[in-house]
Amino acid sequence: MLKSRLFALLLALAPAAAFAAGNVKLQDAPIDLSDRASLQRGAGLFMNYCSACHSLQYMRYSRLADDLGLSHEMVEEFLVKGDAKIGDLMKTGLDKGDGQAWFGKAPPDLSTTARGKIGQEDWIYTFLKSFYVDETRPMGWNNTVLAGASMPNVLWELQGIQRKTEDGFVIQEHERGRLSPAEYERAIVDLTAFLTYVGEPARLKRESMGAWVVLFFAFFTLLAWLLKKEYWRDVH
Ligand code: HEC
Repeated sequence: MLKSRLFALLLALAPAAAFAAGNVKLQDAPIDLSDRASLQRGAGLFMNYCSACHSLQYMRYSRLADDLGLSHEMVEEFLVKGDAKIGDLMKTGLDKGDGQAWFGKAPPDLSTTARGKIGQEDWIYTFLKSFYVDETRPMGWNNTVLAGASMPNVLWELQGIQRKTEDGFVIQEHERGRLSPAEYERAIVDLTAFLTYVGEPARLKRESMGAWVVLFFAFFTLLAWLLKKEYWRDVH
């Protein structure tokens, strides 16, 4: 627990440049793992737009339901795909060989993507926002965070068609997506939060314990101060 707090502190102090991917500066992912609604929306987006290609091989539907405060019935009805059962691991229907053949690279399992590496949630967040049209690529898409990415922008219907210019990204009026820029931003935050949770489910618990740790320290600081006052009273 202490280690993770130290880690968080180090993260906060580390210069932003340390998170740069190639020469793209990663943006801070404004996720909130205590926001259940956000995680639930992220799970829905993941199942609809990502699970056809990506597995979450260490996560069971039942655990997801319990952690996110959803009933097993709801998860079975809305999230479980194919003939999978609520107790199953979240596998993808996509065969690795097919993935390799279709995309030039098998879509990696995403249950550990958000784990461990410093600033990884920032990487996912920035990656998902950095697709742009590139006719020279087999899928017609490229990504500034992962140059030559084999993944197409599967969210283009929501985001619109993003193009790269010298001053950054633009989405032209007639190429807008179904979501407004603010709604799209929220969707990406939700997805990033969900993948961060999946990468380290224990963090949900830990973050809520974090507040107790702070209270605990505050209490002992108060005690120490009272004690000190008590001792010094006799000295003066
Ligand atoms: C059509 C198949 C397909 C779909 C759908 C898809 N992806 Fe991917 N994704 C890929 C492929 C292929 C790669 C490997 C890209 C590479 O390394 O060039 C990838 C890579 C990634 C990576 C980088 C993983 C790593 O560790 O390198 C992330 C993160 C990711 N996808 C997230 C998502 C999310 C979130 C969604 C849903 C919004 C999604 N993907 C939907 C095919 C897909």
